[in-house]
Amino acid sequence: MSRLIHSRLSPSRFFNTLGSIRRGRYLSTESNKIDEPLKVEEAEPVNAPPPPVEKLLVLGGNGFVGSHICKEALDRGLSVASLSRSGKSSIQEPWASKVNWHQGDLLSGDSWKEALGGVTSVISCVGGFGSNTYMYKINGTANINAVRAAAEKGIKRFVYISASDFGVVNYLLQGYYDGKRATETELLTRFPYGHVILRPGFIYGTRRVGSMKLPLGVIGSPLEMIMQYAKPLNQVPVVGPLLTPPVDVKAVAKVAVRGATDPVFPPGIVDVYGLRRYSKQKTF
Ligand SMILES: NC(=O)c1ccc[n+]([C@@H]2O[C@H](COP(=O)([O-])OP(=O)(O)OC[C@H]3O[C@@H](n4cnc5c(N)ncnc54)[C@H](OP(=O)(O)O)[C@@H]3O)[C@@H](O)[C@H]2O)c1
Repeated sequence: MSRLIHSRLSPSRFFNTLGSIRRGRYLSTESNKIDEPLKVEEAEPVNAPPPPVEKLLVLGGNGFVGSHICKEALDRGLSVASLSRSGKSSIQEPWASKVNWHQGDLLSGDSWKEALGGVTSVISCVGGFGSNTYMYKINGTANINAVRAAAEKGIKRFVYISASDFGVVNYLLQGYYDGKRATETELLTRFPYGHVILRPGFIYGTRRVGSMKLPLGVIGSPLEMIMQYAKPLNQVPVVGPLLTPPVDVKAVAKVAVRGATDPVFPPGIVDVYGLRRYSKQKTF
């Protein structure tokens, strides 16, 4: 909505104003310089188009982290869709019916790309464990396919839930970490200004397994409190990365949604300390 404002200056007011400008006092508060009240007329309101609705696609929106991200995005008024192999919500709560659930496998065929239509930003929560080959595929290849397809569709922002470095553990889960880093490299190449990579350690919160709720916060929350004081030890090779504090799934969800939709959120890698810092900011 904009307003057109007309003002009329009398000749004496015009020369007074000009004199003030010359003397370097343009913003004068001296009332005796005004000899005629300013006349303001309101113009007809102009019909401006409504701002475009942000449409977020969460890859793996029915998983532990993905479902919290879907809920956070809906709470912020976004239009939310999810893509996963099962294509169904794992949660029977009222908010879940507001998500547009798509079925598709990022490792098979092209039909899943239809879910990218009209999307403004993507958050990928696709990842997991298994054999080294499987871990590379699900953490690497599947996400690389998604990054490439999103870039080809001209989507502006892509957030990836990666994982922090765990030192020696990296060698035991090589496919997992190689896959994560391969996706990160692809993101940096395809989305140089629109990537946000989150690197949490252990994520705690309420995880649903079937109809059961597992309260992982019972372990994670006290650990987070204790381990925040271990930050200086994080620089110690081998044991250091194992001291990465756990982080609340709600904090991960908040930062992921902000990274996907806030135009001033800087591109880059956000570690567990950054996750906690950004999640406490009230500006978003
Ligand atoms: N949980 C943690 O403590 C933790 C810590 C650090 C990093 N992370 C990372 O955070 C991300 C989310 O973790 P999470 O614990 O939420 O995992 P999760 O519960 O297992 O969720 C994974 C999601 O990916 C979907 N998915 C898997 N393969 C797919 C494929 N080929 N095509 C489409 N969708 C697929 C799964 O749905 P379907 O089975 O229906 O396909 C599911 O929705 C992962 O990348 C994980 O590595 C997690």
